[in-house]
Amino acid sequence: MVREGVKEGGGEEEERGNVSTTAMIGDVLKSGLDQAGLTVVDLDGIVAVPSLSGNHFMEAHYQATALGLFEQKQDKPLHCHTLDTGGAGPVSALLHGEQMISSGNSSSGMDVVAVIAADAVGSMTGKQFLNKADDVFFKLRDELKLPKDYVICPAIPHGYDRITEHQLLSSSSSSALTRDQLRMTVCLESFHAGLHPESLQSQKAASTANSKQSSSSSSSASYATLSEVRASPLVTNNISQMECARRADGAACLILASNQVLQERNLWKAGIPVVIGGGQASGPLYPPQNITDYTYMSCKQAMDQAYASAGDLSVNDIQYFGLYDCFPICLIRAIESCGLVDDGGGGEYVQKQYERLLVAIENGTVETLLTDPTFFPINTHGGLLCYGAPWEVPAMFNIVEAVDQLQGQSQGRVIDNCQRALVYGNGGVLSASAVAILEMSR
Ligand code: CAA
Repeated sequence: MVREGVKEGGGEEEERGNVSTTAMIGDVLKSGLDQAGLTVVDLDGIVAVPSLSGNHFMEAHYQATALGLFEQKQDKPLHCHTLDTGGAGPVSALLHGEQMISSGNSSSGMDVVAVIAADAVGSMTGKQFLNKADDVFFKLRDELKLPKDYVICPAIPHGYDRITEHQLLSSSSSSALTRDQLRMTVCLESFHAGLHPESLQSQKAASTANSKQSSSSSSSASYATLSEVRASPLVTNNISQMECARRADGAACLILASNQVLQERNLWKAGIPVVIGGGQASGPLYPPQNITDYTYMSCKQAMDQAYASAGDLSVNDIQYFGLYDCFPICLIRAIESCGLVDDGGGGEYVQKQYERLLVAIENGTVETLLTDPTFFPINTHGGLLCYGAPWEVPAMFNIVEAVDQLQGQSQGRVIDNCQRALVYGNGGVLSASAVAILEMSR
């Protein structure tokens, strides 16, 4: 498995939007196969998710053709599948790839499947991005002949704002979600992102330090303070710039292999993560103007299915959580849905974790806090808010970080004795949820 990582993009206005996702996929596919000790010839299947910047018809077929994979595999069929569940796509693709392998049978079956995703939304101008990202929601509004203000630009932040406002107003007084608790999700994720050298946040901090000719190599992470998040310009009534998924270019590839091929090729070793359960569920593409009840249950439904299919596991069996966090409300709901706290307790949980961090910083005990498995075992790479969000790719980073945690390779951010990880991807405006549970092979 490999993470290509994220880049902010940039360049002159007229140059933007021309970054090739095919070149990015070519790179990550090659590194992924190299890392697994396999080659393109071994591939039986490709599962891809669509990209916003590239916009290709039949993404998996497009990329396999553009990369010349069919020519390299003349003796064996290559199955190409494209899945679109929005940001849930990588987790849906992981579950689909696992099914492709487990439903295959010996000689005619599939043994090696690559899940691929790339996007270059960081290289688009803000206008190019919003034109494309908003389009489908405007079409839906017009199709349904709804009033103009059913969807306004930027459509996605406004959709999440509607859910955020509903939850801010409807939570009970004893554990009412507060505006600051939403902001604290950014502080916590930013703290984790500060420990990951490839996060967009760390890259930006490093380039600022370089441009100031700074020679200090700080060992303690920098992070966004609550006052910084409070001061961030508002995008909607309840969401500021720092509370938006951070646009980025990026790509990643997962290589899935059957037990048979791992054993035949002597690639099998203790310490390979195995998919042991999964769940998926759906909701509407865009929230109604007046949300009157909790209609957004797909995350909880997918989590419950995943725990049940993994052999009736519960939250206590999981050490690491890769939870989708395109906006703070998505993360709060995921924290509640995976069972880390009861429904309605997400805000309080985040606040307690944030207060622990402040105390540790004050007392100089951050190193000790980081070894405590109960300290925010979520998105140790920084999530969409601080690591970076290349449209439908970011759940790949949740999976890659989970694999790093399971294999003890997440230097500086290690969750001790991580045996099981849960990964969650969300598509649209809480419209699709996909959850997978990974376990270390023994
Ligand atoms: N943290 C810190 N800084 C951030 C940030 C974050 N999370 N997000 C944006 N910024 C910064 C940018 O780096 C930029 O800084 P500079 O001015 O120093 O370059 C500044 O804020 C402005 O950002 P943009 O260039 O993007 O500016 P804009 O005004 O054109 O657009 C925006 C602002 C409307 C908030 C736009 O960034 C946006 O729409 N963001 C949300 C992206 C989004 O919706 N992603 C999909 C999430 S839903 C999902 O993931 C599910 C799915 O199915 C795909």
